[in-house]
Amino acid sequence: ARTRRYSFNVTMATVTRLCVTKSIPTVNGRFPGPKIVVREGDTLVVKVTNNINKNVTFHWHGVRQLRSGWADGPAFITQCPIRPGGSYVYRFTITGQRGTLWWHAHFSWLRATLYGPLVILPPRGVAYPFPKPHREVPLMLGEWFNADPEAVIRQALQTGGGPNVSDAYTFNGLPGPTYNCSAKDTFKLRVRPGKTYMLRLINAALNDELFFGVANHTLTVVQADASYVKPFAATTLVISPGQTMDVLLTAAANPSSQAFAIAVAPYTNTVGTFDNTTAVAALEYGAAAPQSAAALRSLPLPALPEYNDTGAVANFSANFRSLASAQYPAPVPRTVDRHFFFAVGLGADPCQSPVNGTCQGPNNTRFAASINNVSFVMPKTSLLQAHYQRRYNGVLMANFPAAPQMPFNYTGTPPNNTFVTHGTRVVPLRFNTTVEVVLQDTSIQGAESHPLHLHGYDFFVVGTGFGNYDASNDTAKYNLIDPVQRNTISVPTAGWVAIRFVADNPGVWIMHCHLDVHLSWGLSMAWLVNDGPLPNQKLPPPPSDIPRCS
Ligand code: C2O
Repeated sequence: ARTRRYSFNVTMATVTRLCVTKSIPTVNGRFPGPKIVVREGDTLVVKVTNNINKNVTFHWHGVRQLRSGWADGPAFITQCPIRPGGSYVYRFTITGQRGTLWWHAHFSWLRATLYGPLVILPPRGVAYPFPKPHREVPLMLGEWFNADPEAVIRQALQTGGGPNVSDAYTFNGLPGPTYNCSAKDTFKLRVRPGKTYMLRLINAALNDELFFGVANHTLTVVQADASYVKPFAATTLVISPGQTMDVLLTAAANPSSQAFAIAVAPYTNTVGTFDNTTAVAALEYGAAAPQSAAALRSLPLPALPEYNDTGAVANFSANFRSLASAQYPAPVPRTVDRHFFFAVGLGADPCQSPVNGTCQGPNNTRFAASINNVSFVMPKTSLLQAHYQRRYNGVLMANFPAAPQMPFNYTGTPPNNTFVTHGTRVVPLRFNTTVEVVLQDTSIQGAESHPLHLHGYDFFVVGTGFGNYDASNDTAKYNLIDPVQRNTISVPTAGWVAIRFVADNPGVWIMHCHLDVHLSWGLSMAWLVNDGPLPNQKLPPPPSDIPRCS
């Protein structure tokens, strides 16, 4: 194992997309940001220097951060922000994970432009559990805003309504030929007939779950969230914000065309506005592939499901299984110390201090989001720091409420009182507690799927279904043999998902919806995992350069 060092210099840089030129926050002047490559077992040292006039933090999405919680990065959870002119060194070791993860800013909506791949190769001399691909290509799916993304969410929070949608979906930052003046900004993947390529897919979009497909090509999924899965074939993938997926694509020996469309389109059942554009990149066989804007626009498209095809999403999700082999075991907890039932969804706040006397949320309210009716309030100081110093008063409340109003009704009108409560409420856990969380989507303000992301852990997805979770029937159907291990899972619309993990990583770990607008509305909570009795079960002291909280 080695130590790998990177320097992240956060600077503004001028970028043009969709004929709009603007200055955006970047790492080292690059958009999207640089690729990090490590091997499993390596220690990664990233020195961040903040040279923009905004606060920033970085999160290494999906990295377990075993006893290195100070490097996890969410602002006001594990650190205070790195101020303009400041710096901080993130130092952590990659343990028991391999495949594709990613890094992104974790403050306000800065991750719209501050993100990049984090590739974890197997230890030297260890092969993949599938034939080595000819080439490996990171492919980050994102969203481009012509406006300043932070202004977009600021305005939404002021008016109480939903934020403006982005202006394009992107492939490695490029919108492609279906958008205005963007044919020249088309991501192109040149392939050789008969060769196999591994796409390291990352959904870095702020607010959209995405369908993904390649015309005339079948994809084989081999990895999800830096855990191997039993390979399965699919023509359409579904990938939620935060999730990563490694897929094999074998180029045709005798392609029927010189080029094919790689396409994404949103999956949503949100009432309201969204961008239903199909965005396109090009899979090219040889130099004769068409280059003109018109030709790129008429590439054969894959057949993607309708934007609201929840059945297609459920069918796809059902394919994921851990390898559960001798080399890559799936240590699924078979017994549970603590069961949690979390109702996750949207809600509302009363219309106070509105713009022009109205609020743009449902029935003249302000949109909010919650878990068990608590809309998470970001503290002003770092929760991890408060925990380390055992100074909880005035910072957090360790009495997380139980779920309200069961059963939920997915067909009727929303309940009259959809108002949420507010607080920085956390759930304390003893070290090594075995936890099961059933995440239940609520019908409040409409049923909607929520990609829930847990920091500091991979969890096993032991069960899922539609309707109300019913412990007496559903528990018996759990998969405790080879459930997939992930860090982000979508709670299905009008349904539930059950996850299990062992709380063996001391620290404070945020769990939140990875649709950034829902996170901004409070769809978040934190687990406070206490130290264990042994020296190697304790959270070490903070690094000396951790940014100070004022
Ligand atoms: Cu990818 Cu808390 O985030």
